[in-house]
Amino acid sequence: MVALLKIWVLVSILLLSLHSQILVISQNVTCNSNDLKGLKGFMDKLQSPIGGWWPTNSSSFNCCNWVGITCDSSSGRIVSLKLPNQRLTGHFADLISSLVQLKTLNLSHNFLKGPIPTSFFHLANLEIVDLSGNEFDDVLPVTINLPALQVLDLSDNNLRGPLPVDLCTKTNRLRVVSFAVNYFTGIIPVNFGNCSFLERLSSAGNYHSGVIPDFLLRLPRLRELELQDNEFTAITGISDFFSQLVHLDLSINLISGDIPDFFNNFPNLTYFLAHSNNLSGTIPANLASCNKLKALNLAKNNLNGQVPESFKNLESLSYLLLSNCGVTNLSAALTILQHCRNLTILVLSRNFYNEQLPSNVHLQFKSLKALMIANCSLTGSIPLWISGSTQLQLLELSDNRLTGSIPTYMEDFKSLFYLDLSNNSLSGKIPKNLTQLRSLIWRNVSMEEPSPDFPFFKHINTRTLQYNQIIKFPPKLDLSSNLLTGPIWPEFGNLMKLHVLNLQHNNLSGTIPSSLSGLISIETLDFSYNRLTGTIPPSLAKLSFLSTFSVAHNNLTGIIPSGGQFSTFLNTSFEGNPGLCGNLFLSCQNSRDLLRPHAHEEDEYTILHILVITGFGTGFLGTVISLLVVPRFMKSHI
Ligand SMILES: *[C@@H]1O[C@H](CO)[C@@H](O)[C@H](O)[C@H]1NC(C)=O
Ligand SMILES: *[C@@H]1O[C@H](CO)[C@@H](O)[C@H](O)[C@H]1NC(C)=O
Ligand SMILES: *[C@@H]1O[C@H](CO)[C@@H](O)[C@H](O)[C@H]1NC(C)=O
Ligand SMILES: *[C@@H]1O[C@H](CO)[C@@H](O)[C@H](O)[C@H]1NC(C)=O
Ligand SMILES: *[C@@H]1O[C@H](CO)[C@@H](O)[C@H](O)[C@H]1NC(C)=O
Ligand SMILES: *[C@@H]1O[C@H](CO)[C@@H](O)[C@H](O)[C@H]1NC(C)=O
Ligand SMILES: *[C@@H]1O[C@H](CO)[C@@H](O)[C@H](O)[C@H]1NC(C)=O
Ligand SMILES: *[C@@H]1O[C@H](CO)[C@@H](O)[C@H](O)[C@H]1NC(C)=O
Ligand SMILES: *[C@@H]1O[C@H](CO)[C@@H](O)[C@H](O)[C@H]1NC(C)=O
Ligand SMILES: *[C@@H]1O[C@H](CO)[C@@H](O)[C@H](O)[C@H]1NC(C)=O
Ligand SMILES: *[C@@H]1O[C@H](CO)[C@@H](O)[C@H](O)[C@H]1NC(C)=O
Ligand SMILES: *[C@@H]1O[C@H](CO)[C@@H](O)[C@H](O)[C@H]1NC(C)=O
Repeated sequence: MVALLKIWVLVSILLLSLHSQILVISQNVTCNSNDLKGLKGFMDKLQSPIGGWWPTNSSSFNCCNWVGITCDSSSGRIVSLKLPNQRLTGHFADLISSLVQLKTLNLSHNFLKGPIPTSFFHLANLEIVDLSGNEFDDVLPVTINLPALQVLDLSDNNLRGPLPVDLCTKTNRLRVVSFAVNYFTGIIPVNFGNCSFLERLSSAGNYHSGVIPDFLLRLPRLRELELQDNEFTAITGISDFFSQLVHLDLSINLISGDIPDFFNNFPNLTYFLAHSNNLSGTIPANLASCNKLKALNLAKNNLNGQVPESFKNLESLSYLLLSNCGVTNLSAALTILQHCRNLTILVLSRNFYNEQLPSNVHLQFKSLKALMIANCSLTGSIPLWISGSTQLQLLELSDNRLTGSIPTYMEDFKSLFYLDLSNNSLSGKIPKNLTQLRSLIWRNVSMEEPSPDFPFFKHINTRTLQYNQIIKFPPKLDLSSNLLTGPIWPEFGNLMKLHVLNLQHNNLSGTIPSSLSGLISIETLDFSYNRLTGTIPPSLAKLSFLSTFSVAHNNLTGIIPSGGQFSTFLNTSFEGNPGLCGNLFLSCQNSRDLLRPHAHEEDEYTILHILVITGFGTGFLGTVISLLVVPRFMKSHI
């Protein structure tokens, strides 16, 4: 009888639930019926059920027990709904506003789309809202009436239109707001000046225009302001005020005019990023009054004048990026900046045109990890003072007019893994010491260090690459486009961690050492436009990461190795070597004579091996046999 009754109850629940789930559930729940109605509405607009919710796979009708939901123990009302990273798809239901006691809503990183319902912006108890990383579109309501709001994250959606004009008129508790990475347009509404509790504000990565308003900079508690990557055109004039700002990012906008002389107002400023704008005038000397300044990026602007003398006092300065910004007098800049004992990244490229790279022996940069002074048409030679920067990981002096030889002291740079001296007029032999660079032999991943929390820029020709850690640069030796002579040392084969070796456009002679097969991480190997002779060592076919290879325009002979990555290289990798043949493009018809005198001792067996296994015609057998009897003295002297 009891069993029958139970079955009847179950059946009627099922039947009724088809008709109206809400009514049935509410007979057996402790959670509030309005909340349930809200959740039902929420579920109805989703395209798939929520795992852990009734009726999918929760045994409980009590919505307070469902995944992601927390109810207040006394009122039984839902106070928190957290379903981040749940692959939710569909729309966001209006009925969510039935959850009147809701304090925390986190639906971040789902696939919700459509507008955020207007009623949602009137939940009286809502404190923390995270809808970031969805596909919400449409405009926001003009009025936001969330009197308890503390944290609002709408970043990384497809929202558009203006920002709400009265964000802070109804709440006085708002601490953190992000509108970043949407399609918001227009100015920052003047009422944001009422957000007196705001600590962090980001509207980066939108299409805002107009001025960077001073009422934001004046907000008494603001520590972090991110307005980068918009279309702001100016910064307003600002008089004396007091700011707690630590992090100010105005980069990648269209800001013209002088950098305001307002830095006395920012005693705690640690990061000031204003690169990629149209700022003019000089670098304000009173930037140095921000004595906690750790990162300064003014790259890509139209400034002029020297680095201010006051920068001597920036004791905490670690990252200074002034590339392509119009500063002059490299000698003065270095003399001043050497006093910044904590300077680890110094990027001065694309300035100081036609000046001399100072050879002043007194300069000392003991903490430097990255030094980039490329594309400045600098004259002079690579100075001795650089040898004091023994922590260097990255040195780039490319695209200048430097003369003299490559210094041998670099062997002492235990961490150097990126050296670009390309496109200068350096002469002499490549120092053998470069084949001993420790971090190109044993480089440890554990060398990784915390990244500065901003990206710094590097230009490769016209492309702009963005890195926020030195460690992200590829291990590289680029000595191309110089006047270097002498051989390619066989010891280069030691550099197991090297990814790029570019020696093109020099006057290098001798053979390509077969030991280069030790470059087991190499991706790019370019020896084109030199005077190399001999064969291409077949051992190079073992280099399984090699994707860019060129020996074009040398005087190489013999048969192009086959197999491995060599089957992917085009004719252009080999052209301009009259004695080279053997891949799909260059037939070996007339190369018999050329093969004979230039074979590299170590490679003879391999050539024979290849010829045999690839079943070359017997016409080549004579050549192969003569290869085997090439006198030992033919081995290149290197
Ligand atoms: C509910 O089902 C979903 C899949 O639909 C599963 O991922 C989840 O773990 C289940 N939850 C519970 C509490 O059984
Ligand atoms: C409904 O409530 C009763 C009594 O409170 C309980 O025994 C039963 O398990 C509940 N049913 C469900 C499906 O939660
Ligand atoms: C929302 O949840 C995600 C994932 O757990 C978390 O990273 C994020 O901090 C939460 N948002 C807020 C505002 O707490
Ligand atoms: C909000 O800001 C405006 C202009 O900045 C000001 O006139 C108004 O009094 C402020 N309102 C409140 C409530 O602070
Ligand atoms: C600067 O920051 C410190 C803590 O980092 C804080 O105690 C101090 O009040 C701040 N000063 C100003 C002027 O904001
Ligand atoms: C950059 O600033 C200069 C004045 O310093 C101005 O003449 C020029 O129009 C500005 N360019 C852009 C694109 O705003
Ligand atoms: C310099 O850097 C060291 C190590 O990162 C740090 O401990 C020290 O506080 C810094 N000095 C200044 C003045 O910032
Ligand atoms: C560079 O600055 C130094 C002083 O630091 C000065 O003696 C020198 O004349 C300046 N050079 C140029 C070209 O302005
Ligand atoms: C070499 O550097 C000069 C500037 O010094 C630049 O104009 C030229 O394009 C560079 N050449 C190559 C091949 O990068
Ligand atoms: C580098 O090579 C030069 C000459 O080839 C040699 O005198 C020197 O001792 C080597 N090592 C260093 C650290 O310079
Ligand atoms: C690399 O790490 C190993 C241990 O993880 C350590 O023994 C070795 O000295 C490190 N090498 C370098 C060059 O730092
Ligand atoms: C290439 O090498 C051959 C044989 O050694 C020599 O006769 C010829 O002059 C060289 N060609 C060039 C362009 O150096």
